[in-house]
Amino acid sequence: MFVDIINAKSRLLDVFADLDDDELIAMEQWIGSKQYKKDLENKKSLIKSDEAITKIVDVIKGMVPFEAEMASEKIEYPIVGDAADCNKVNTRHVDEFLYDEEQVQELVKDGKLSRHYCIDCNSQNIKELTYISHSKSRLQLQYIYKVLLPKDLECKLILDVGSRFGGVLYGAYYFTNASKIVGIELNKECCEVQEKIISQFKMGKRIQVVNSDVLNKGDLVAKSDVCIINCLDFFVSTEEHKRLWYFFKEHLKKGSYVVLDRSIVDTLQPLDIFDEFADWLSVSKPMQLENEILFDVEELHQLYLYIVN
Ligand SMILES: C[S@@+](CC[C@H](N)C(=O)[O-])C[C@H]1O[C@@H](n2cnc3c(N)ncnc32)[C@H](O)[C@@H]1O
Repeated sequence: MFVDIINAKSRLLDVFADLDDDELIAMEQWIGSKQYKKDLENKKSLIKSDEAITKIVDVIKGMVPFEAEMASEKIEYPIVGDAADCNKVNTRHVDEFLYDEEQVQELVKDGKLSRHYCIDCNSQNIKELTYISHSKSRLQLQYIYKVLLPKDLECKLILDVGSRFGGVLYGAYYFTNASKIVGIELNKECCEVQEKIISQFKMGKRIQVVNSDVLNKGDLVAKSDVCIINCLDFFVSTEEHKRLWYFFKEHLKKGSYVVLDRSIVDTLQPLDIFDEFADWLSVSKPMQLENEILFDVEELHQLYLYIVN
């Protein structure tokens, strides 16, 4: 215990040594304030929820292949937009919900994952692989629910379009008070994984999974108060992608929140349809700005919150 305290003090001193006089005064005031106690409580509660989600992650790892793509899935490499240079040779899927950056580094160190590919076999002429993730990371989920979205989601419906292994749903379960959390997923194998997890961790009162093409579920989309859409471009052709956005525009209700992991401009301009959507969404400021203190915000700038006009 004594050694722990000395270690903790030493780590704090490292941080304080980097601050100038004004910053140090601000830090001393914060530590002496009630706000500090509240921030600490919030941080502890976040860590506890994350531990619960980590248990789910460990079970999913035993249910899906290491590369986290199912045999029944057909990956469509995008031909437009910022991932248009990705292909089967230069790209590797590493699921960020299942493996965080630290674990990826461990896998690389242990030789289970490579960061490079060979341009001509047996040579040292190598290039760095592009890592993509079909799932949001646990950190991104915390940021969506604890900073971007409103704190009180009681009686609200959160919908995840393309819920895959369910990370967004479990995040909503542990990090929000939303009454109803629904995932729509086209792939049956992915739905089976989610069903097993929901049943094993007894989350069925609030979470439901629908095995369907979202295009057949306009009624559900129209009921949602929060709609989370992760880039679908590795799963649909450019034409299908366009159709999906016309469909969302037709069905999402006025005043509902939309969470994207690219800006709407960066999503729709490569599809050549942004002009038709220019007045559809308004950018929303994060609704729980006070919680930004819990995160390294720099890492999370690629998440966007909009309101439907
Ligand atoms: C990029 S993953 C998103 C995973 C999860 N929502 C997240 O953000 O972590 C996209 C998922 O959407 C599913 N999908 C693609 N098109 C769909 C459609 N039309 N209807 C329902 N699901 C779809 C894919 O099978 C894939 O699992």
